[in-house]
Amino acid sequence: MNYLHFSSRIFMPSCISSQPKTIWTSSNSENESKVVKLLQTQKGHCTKVSRSVNMENLQNGYLFPEIFMRENLHTQKYPNARVIRLGIGNTTEPIPDIITSTMAEHANALSTVEGYRGYGAEQGHMALRMAIAEKLYHNMGIQGDEIFVSDGAQCDISRLQMLLGSNVTVAVQDPSFPVIYANPLLFMDHVLGHAYIDSSVIAGRAGNFQEETGKYKNIVYLNCSPENNFFPDLSTASRVDLIFFCSPNNPTGNAASWHQLKQLVEFAKANGSIIVYDSSYAAYISDGSPRSIYEIPGAREVAIEISSFSKFAGFTGVRLGWTVVPEELLYADGFPVIKDYNRIVCTCFNGASNIAQAGGLACLSEDGYQVRIYTPFLVHTLIRSLVNLFHPVSFSFYNPHNR
Ligand SMILES: Cc1ncc(COP(=O)(O)O)c(C=O)c1O
Repeated sequence: MNYLHFSSRIFMPSCISSQPKTIWTSSNSENESKVVKLLQTQKGHCTKVSRSVNMENLQNGYLFPEIFMRENLHTQKYPNARVIRLGIGNTTEPIPDIITSTMAEHANALSTVEGYRGYGAEQGHMALRMAIAEKLYHNMGIQGDEIFVSDGAQCDISRLQMLLGSNVTVAVQDPSFPVIYANPLLFMDHVLGHAYIDSSVIAGRAGNFQEETGKYKNIVYLNCSPENNFFPDLSTASRVDLIFFCSPNNPTGNAASWHQLKQLVEFAKANGSIIVYDSSYAAYISDGSPRSIYEIPGAREVAIEISSFSKFAGFTGVRLGWTVVPEELLYADGFPVIKDYNRIVCTCFNGASNIAQAGGLACLSEDGYQVRIYTPFLVHTLIRSLVNLFHPVSFSFYNPHNR
């Protein structure tokens, strides 16, 4: 399959396009579909403000429009078909009542003099920070005040980019966490970006996009494919400052083993790099693979961990996540990263919603933890159903047991 990559500049034909319109057509030669975009433009007023060169450098992937178009063609042809959408991911199960009723109580109390709360601590309620430390980082030496509660992992990925200068070099797993965004100027247009890559592009540290390779010049792409068991060959990897690493990985689903993560920590230590470890799917691990980078000795000196209640508790819409910045993590000049991260959080974020935080605390309570929906059992049941469904049509599956 060909994914067509267009420069975002194509959709901005100078100041004459204020309302482009998208028309999808398909050419089905050799079973390959192509997405063709035709733009209709209207004249409009242009300001004198120039666009950020970093924003111009962002690319639009076409995986999701392609899926959308194929689905449309299929349902036109087979109107009674029951389509299982595996393209755009989202959580689907209702949040248990024990958690939503706590949030509702908290929301209702805001209407009372006794229960009203305004701004809270920018870093999050200490009770929640301590509950995360105790429940999810037990025996890993993580303290409550090293945890910064946020409105989600994706927001933290971008806020983290503000910590560092534009000369900082970045590595990502390939493939890495795709993000979908609807382009407000285009109809039904869900285009595809990549969270770690796009936030690096916006921060100006990705270098130019190279059409020939479909990659950014200054980003190191760490191949994670079936050939290397989804873990990069670090013996040949270039030195970089920042390594984004997601386990279990989105989109491959592969969870790195303890030995692999030990290699990663040693690699970061030897190179003086910082790992930004995304453990948003950690709760799905059931085979004993680490759920946190801090299970690996020495990680406190080289790793920041970003995580989320989204996949753990179905909080995709509620919005709650956290970032761990250990006190031992230092810049080249010995300054603690945690101090700068605290400054970024206080400057760019005013703390997560207190209703969401009440929900987070309920998730981590004894009863809430028992009834949470997104357990390894549910995920494995879904994976098993997919394996059974797709085996007859010769799909390949890799390690469907380790997440
Ligand atoms: C790997 C990964 N990290 C982070 C996120 C976003 O998490 P949040 O909802 O907390 O922003 C996602 C969402 O799909 C994800 O796949």
